[in-house]
Amino acid sequence: MGTRIYECISRIAERIIDNKEYLTELDREIGDADHGVNMARGFQAVLEKVPQDSDDVGAFLKKTGMTLLSTVGGASGPLYGTAFMEAGKAVAGKERLEAADVPAILDAAIAGIQKRGKAAQGEKTMLDALIPALETYREKLESGSDLSEAMDAACAAARDGVEFTKTIRATKGRASYLGDRSIGHQDPGATSATLIMEAVRDFLRG
Ligand SMILES: Nc1ncnc2c1ncn2[C@@H]1O[C@H](COP(=O)(O)OP(=O)(O)O)[C@@H](O)[C@H]1O
Ligand SMILES: [Mg+2]
Repeated sequence: MGTRIYECISRIAERIIDNKEYLTELDREIGDADHGVNMARGFQAVLEKVPQDSDDVGAFLKKTGMTLLSTVGGASGPLYGTAFMEAGKAVAGKERLEAADVPAILDAAIAGIQKRGKAAQGEKTMLDALIPALETYREKLESGSDLSEAMDAACAAARDGVEFTKTIRATKGRASYLGDRSIGHQDPGATSATLIMEAVRDFLRG
């Protein structure tokens, strides 16, 4: 199942841009109402700046990360920037993105986010979607599921992670200033991370 990376990133960009208002509204409740605007601006820049004819998935993801880093801003810009750059290193030199690469990409992205943002699972961040998604993907493969079933389950786990963020207090980032008042609200970054995962799933499905 080989696939073209520019198409994949276009699907992600489309999903983020379509959900710009939604992500911004979530950030209005526990942040500063810019997450959707920031992310849409970043992915718009990616569509414009990253070469369409790339045949090196690693270099493409690295360039995507650098573009996000310099255009998204806020806390999430450096975090997603690092995530995509680290993901690029995990698939350096590969000509095609394949479903089988998903765990290595997710693992590298999570490590990059954690190195940069020093958050753990349960702090009401994007990690509350991404970590369960990776764990579920691996569990599914170990128990004999195929790649597409594993990806479906990973996306469902990310969605559950988003629901879980409603029940917990933020202890990292801007939302942490609210303390207990952040409880009851959905984390914008966990939501955008899930939208990205779902766009990749839909792309890999073809
Ligand atoms: N230290 C961190 N580690 C991981 N994710 C974080 C961290 N701090 C914030 N986030 C994520 O960033 C999101 C907010 O992004 P954004 O609104 O773009 O930045 P800002 O909070 O600077 O306005 C949060 O919803 C959360 O998921
Ligand atoms: Mg914000």
